[in-house]
Amino acid sequence: PAEGPLKGRRALVTSGPTHEPIDPVRYIANRSSGKQGHAIAAALARLGAATTLVTGPTREPDPAGVAVVRIETARQMLEACLAALPADVAVCAAAVADWRVASAAGQKLKKEGGGLPTLALTENPDILATLSARENDRPALVVGFAAETEKVIEHATSKRARKGCDWIVANDVSPATGTFGGDANTVHLITGGEVEDWPTASKAEVGDRLAARIAAHFAA
Ligand code: C5P
Repeated sequence: PAEGPLKGRRALVTSGPTHEPIDPVRYIANRSSGKQGHAIAAALARLGAATTLVTGPTREPDPAGVAVVRIETARQMLEACLAALPADVAVCAAAVADWRVASAAGQKLKKEGGGLPTLALTENPDILATLSARENDRPALVVGFAAETEKVIEHATSKRARKGCDWIVANDVSPATGTFGGDANTVHLITGGEVEDWPTASKAEVGDRLAARIAAHFAA
């Protein structure tokens, strides 16, 4: 790891979407470029943290100096995150699919002559909530994201309570903002006591600022 204020700390970051199979060739997924999560992992590593990035399929290159674990499904993401513990800080930036097909087909579903398939869904594990609720190896600082299209602060604040995490990075992802797949992000950091409104910045800058904020938290 690099020299820096987070030297000796371990960081875990989730990024990207998950892919939940319907059959061997089809899947359910969320929209996620992985840009923000990858930028956070890179920034934490630059500040000296021994960083593991657990990521779903993305087009992003592996960040320098980061241990990258590639997974496809939410269940695999959870397993890889638990395997990466203990960690001082966990940042969950992945867009995890909320549901998966209860029993994915072993063979490609055929459209010829079969009528329409019915997909029975079941709930995926919530990785942020699971990490937040760990008894013996809970990261000292757990950070989640809240993508909101309205009442951003209000919804993100209740999400923080619901998930049991320490901080929430709330971002406005109404279609007009171009956040998804784009390079800029307007975020608010909700730490519990207060709300920090950050200026609109590139996802790389938001990653640097969040990493610096995390370093300051551990230095305090
Ligand atoms: O509930 P919602 O998906 O809006 O919450 C977003 C936050 O929860 C993000 O930090 C995301 O990475 C995390 N999350 C998770 N596992 C899930 C769903 C969301 O870690 N199954």
